[in-house]
Amino acid sequence: MAKHAEEVERTAALSRTIALVNDKGGVGKTTLAVNLAGQLSAAGFSCLLVDLNRQANIARDLGYRDAAGDDHGRNLFDAISGRGVLEPVPGVRPGLDVAPGGNELDDLVSHMVGRMGREGLDANLALGNALMPLAPNYDFVIIDSPPEATILVDLCLYAARWILIPTRSDEAGLDGMASVAKRFTVAKQYNPGLSLLGAVLFGTGVRSTSIHEEVREHIAQAFGGQSPLFSAFIRFSEKTAQDGRRLGRLAHELEEDLAAQPAWWKVLREGKRPGSRISATAASVAGDYRDLALEVLTVLREAEEQEIAEAETVKGAQ
Ligand SMILES: Nc1ncnc2c1ncn2[C@@H]1O[C@H](COP(=O)(O)OP(=O)(O)OP(=O)(O)O)[C@@H](O)[C@H]1O
Ligand SMILES: [Mg+2]
Repeated sequence: MAKHAEEVERTAALSRTIALVNDKGGVGKTTLAVNLAGQLSAAGFSCLLVDLNRQANIARDLGYRDAAGDDHGRNLFDAISGRGVLEPVPGVRPGLDVAPGGNELDDLVSHMVGRMGREGLDANLALGNALMPLAPNYDFVIIDSPPEATILVDLCLYAARWILIPTRSDEAGLDGMASVAKRFTVAKQYNPGLSLLGAVLFGTGVRSTSIHEEVREHIAQAFGGQSPLFSAFIRFSEKTAQDGRRLGRLAHELEEDLAAQPAWWKVLREGKRPGSRISATAASVAGDYRDLALEVLTVLREAEEQEIAEAETVKGAQ
């Protein structure tokens, strides 16, 4: 197949693939990936969540660590290295399938280094190749990328149609974002459909509006003038983060658990210990993820409508 036709087919198959990337660690990639996939699948969209991390925190966040189907990334490694077909774990939540990560991905960086020696930058298309047969079965494919492994982040940049960049407001998070922005242009030569969906402020103060403005300016510098910072942001809440990972529940699920939680005084009155309780902030954090999911859907729909209109204009002019 001619290279152009191949690229068009690839871009179409992966048109709803979103990768969470930032070269810096601890900026909220995993928490955002899992909560975005969780919100979208709860809203009725079918989602595939791909965990490219050896630390496999997605398994913890969704509560499936070591459960049936958790192969610690073996199948994902085989699919990327061309030795097998990707077979995600179905129904981790209704409408949500997962390609698990884990320590079986330990050798992925050295595998990719070897491949790049033989194939050059084309090797980076490996993740997209693994996803292509499956992606059209889903409304969204969401990829969580690892920190400080630029080779694996590049796999995401060469596979995704969209990238979503979480950042904290500190310099390190913003530097990590700028370093992704630099490699974005190279990746686009191999993956012409690649576009920036937006940046998201993670773990920030609700009232820190001057900080939000500063971040907006930093992002504009990194991306040559525009600042695609989402208005939605995820507020700082260590307790909700801890509750989520401890219980294997997403923010909107914690919100439901919170509503069903009996008042502490009722528990005491019944002579029981109140035990570990879900923080009331869970409802606000769940609201932040809902706002973000809605904004993502709006931005995607607008971009897709614009693409359709442009294609029709080109057709009309021929
Ligand atoms: N709303 C929140 N406020 C503050 N901290 C949070 C919030 N949600 C999650 N966290 C915590 O922030 C830390 C980083 O989150 P997360 O693991 O999603 O980042 P990451 O970018 O995927 O990190 P890594 O690069 O190590 O994979 C975790 O310890 C998580 O528990
Ligand atoms: Mg992570």
